Amino acid sequence: MNQSLEENISLSASSGDCALEPRIANEVRRRRTFAIISHPDAGKTTLTEKLLLFGGAIQMAGTVKARKSGRHATSDWLEIEKQRGISVASSVMQFTYDDCVINLLDTPGHQDFSEDTYRVLTAVDAAVMVVDAAKGVEAQTIKLLEVCRLRNTPIITFINKMDREVRDPLEVLDEIESVLKIHCAPVTWPIGMGKRFQGVYHLLKDEVLRFTPGEEKANHEVEVLKGEQIEKLAGQCPGEMQTMRDETELVKGAGASFDLHEFLKGRQTPVFFGSGINNFGVREVLRALVDWAPPPLPRETDKRIVQPTEPDFTGFVFKIQANMDPNHRDRIAFLRVCSGRYTSGMKVKHRRTGKEMKLANAVTFMANERTRMDEAYAGDIIGVHNHGQLQIGDVLTEGEALTFKGIPYFAPELFSRARLRDPMKAKQLQKGLRQLGEEGAVQVFEPLQDSNPLIGAVGQLQFEVVEHRLKSEYGVDAVFERAGIHTARWVTCADRNHLDEFVKANQARLARDVDGNYAYLADTGVNLRLAQERWPKVEFHATREHGQQLT
Ligand code: G4P
Repeated sequence: MNQSLEENISLSASSGDCALEPRIANEVRRRRTFAIISHPDAGKTTLTEKLLLFGGAIQMAGTVKARKSGRHATSDWLEIEKQRGISVASSVMQFTYDDCVINLLDTPGHQDFSEDTYRVLTAVDAAVMVVDAAKGVEAQTIKLLEVCRLRNTPIITFINKMDREVRDPLEVLDEIESVLKIHCAPVTWPIGMGKRFQGVYHLLKDEVLRFTPGEEKANHEVEVLKGEQIEKLAGQCPGEMQTMRDETELVKGAGASFDLHEFLKGRQTPVFFGSGINNFGVREVLRALVDWAPPPLPRETDKRIVQPTEPDFTGFVFKIQANMDPNHRDRIAFLRVCSGRYTSGMKVKHRRTGKEMKLANAVTFMANERTRMDEAYAGDIIGVHNHGQLQIGDVLTEGEALTFKGIPYFAPELFSRARLRDPMKAKQLQKGLRQLGEEGAVQVFEPLQDSNPLIGAVGQLQFEVVEHRLKSEYGVDAVFERAGIHTARWVTCADRNHLDEFVKANQARLARDVDGNYAYLADTGVNLRLAQERWPKVEFHATREHGQQLT
């Protein structure tokens, strides 16, 4: 095992004197669980596909892409419904690389963007951020990185599309540092770009990786130049090489060298340049995941820190996928294993209800096929079939009563009101919204001064799903109408009397969430800022933990 990996493991297993069952410890050490974050079109699908290709999980380029374009072809609901099966299958992809078991979790983007996209990030130990070198830091990347920051998730950066005429690499790095507030440590540096893209210089290894366009095969070996060969290349393309040398000098002068500890703390990101479509630079990202990204980390609970190597099984639900077929009301709850070993047929305790559950037939998703899984360890994701009893944030253990922290609700950014076509169905609407809210499909708020519930979401798709499910599962025909609300913030205040004053003065803008917490509904960003300035003792929170009673 290499040195850096050992350091990672000791870092992740340093607190508590857990009983290290050797088999579990060995499996945990091999796990890497991560997600790719990016703005649409930066190259996430392409990179996913190339990673799977390297991992031997798919044989041909085009498999993931074909699925994605299928999803894009239509917005017809029935089609979306059919696609659901596909999106379940592509939610988690497990493959092995260099003795590591890699779990790649999909962060649904484009029109699938939803609160799930954020929640997935609560279940990973690292993330790969893909940046389009021509566009730099874009809106969705900023949002996703903010979510990563909640847990200081280590980030590996891949600057993509160097085969195009793109922006100056120093400028892109500056932007990442200033906008995303994370230090950049370039590991590779581009030599030219577009038609003159020659490859990258590896700052840690002092070698040049030569770019050859159009290489789609995983077994293709990149040409590596060292010493005199690099000088020869400098003779062939003096301009590009000189620029690279000047820029890397600048970078080194600025002291931006890779520091594993800083990376693991989420303060520094190693940066790789490449071209996903040409399979160039992908291997280096995969190596960084294997060598530097942490194995499953200890997780905080309300009682104690749970070590991934503990023998007893624990896990939490971070995503619920409803089966959209009305004849099958079952759902798949995605559970992140946090410790111990899952074995098919094992009995666990469902902490919220206190009931015992048999975990049989859990599924995992090998690239694009669902396969039955016989065992799983910390870092793995298992799909548990159930009929609605599992909710986001729910914990399954072998007996111990604990609740994992860090699986929050995120402040909605879109709001609607449900209008019934048949007013006689008000009760069913209420029931449906409550259950769908509990499941995490949307968030439901009860305004203090209005009897119509407000429905909050992060992505438009969530409304479409709920509209459809209300109809098929509850027989409620409702349309969603946009409410002019910009965002919500949960409010708390140490001084109860002061909070009462705040509530009295802001009745028209306050609502209660499913757990009875107050949420301030701001119609504009300016309105939110003004409220914060006017009520400095009141705290405005963009997230809240599941099941948490704030007031
Ligand atoms: P996404 O999942 O982040 O949305 O991005 P995706 O991989 O689908 O890539 C978006 C577009 O960028 C695609 O082009 C893809 O081929 C292209 N692309 C990805 N990586 C590179 C790269 O390294 N260099 C260049 N030049 N292009 C890249 P498209 O025209 O939208 O789709 P397609 O017709 O190529 O399938």
